[in-house]
Amino acid sequence: MIESGARPLALVTGASRGIGAAVARALAPTHDVLLGGRDADALGAVAAGLPGARPWPVELTDPTELADAIADIDRLDVLVHSAGIGPLGTVEDSPAEQWRQTFEINVVAVAELTRLLLPALRAARGRVVCINSGAGFTARPGWASYAASKFALRAFADALRAEEATRGVRVTSVHPGRTDTDMQRAVVAHEGGEYDGSRFLHPESVARAVLLAVTAPPDADVTELSIRPAPR
Ligand SMILES: NC(=O)c1ccc[n+]([C@@H]2O[C@H](COP(=O)([O-])OP(=O)(O)OC[C@H]3O[C@@H](n4cnc5c(N)ncnc54)[C@H](OP(=O)(O)O)[C@@H]3O)[C@@H](O)[C@H]2O)c1
Repeated sequence: MIESGARPLALVTGASRGIGAAVARALAPTHDVLLGGRDADALGAVAAGLPGARPWPVELTDPTELADAIADIDRLDVLVHSAGIGPLGTVEDSPAEQWRQTFEINVVAVAELTRLLLPALRAARGRVVCINSGAGFTARPGWASYAASKFALRAFADALRAEEATRGVRVTSVHPGRTDTDMQRAVVAHEGGEYDGSRFLHPESVARAVLLAVTAPPDADVTELSIRPAPR
């Protein structure tokens, strides 16, 4: 069994880098944190700086691996879905396999991991945070498969929130704009631009929005948060 000791337990997917790693660092002072990801070395490096954090290396699209990995979690206070992929391309240039891969990790894996952990979340009256995107509200040219997956993720979060309201499980969608991570580097490379991370949100700023949702008092249901790079 995964024991959380006296502190609440959080599971953060995508915690090997980017926004997920920043969320894990923000939660670590108050939570024991399971660090989701696939890169064992990167997970070990994040865990090394965080007392109470442990790697949770799982391929989220593998149902057997997923079921095994959650088997010992019987109580979970916080579940943050940050793992995601963002391949871009026009509809003309986006084959079925791109759509399938994007939905598999950005939507199906989120739904399945949440489903498997619902008893543990209910036991703790836990919080679920989905890292969505500005693309979860607006679909721009060249972003169809990614935006569609994030629209679907928003729908998932809305339905889950309504279903779990009376069981004390709270659900928040966090919609960041462009954030200085590996994913954003790939986006800029796709667009053919010069990368300047200082133009984008810091992952730590997104993590603060997650913390706001997770630490909201019992009377407050934080349903959606949008956070954009400030004009400079
Ligand atoms: N960066 C942005 O500008 C931006 C803006 C809005 C929303 N978002 C959203 O924020 C979230 C995090 O993005 P990011 O920029 O931090 O991305 P990132 O730096 O590319 O990191 C992606 C993370 O997802 C994990 N991951 C990907 N596929 C996985 C799989 N099949 N199984 C397990 N883990 C998997 C990766 O783990 P490994 O490396 O260990 O494989 C990594 O930890 C995503 O949902 C993204 O859509 C990002």
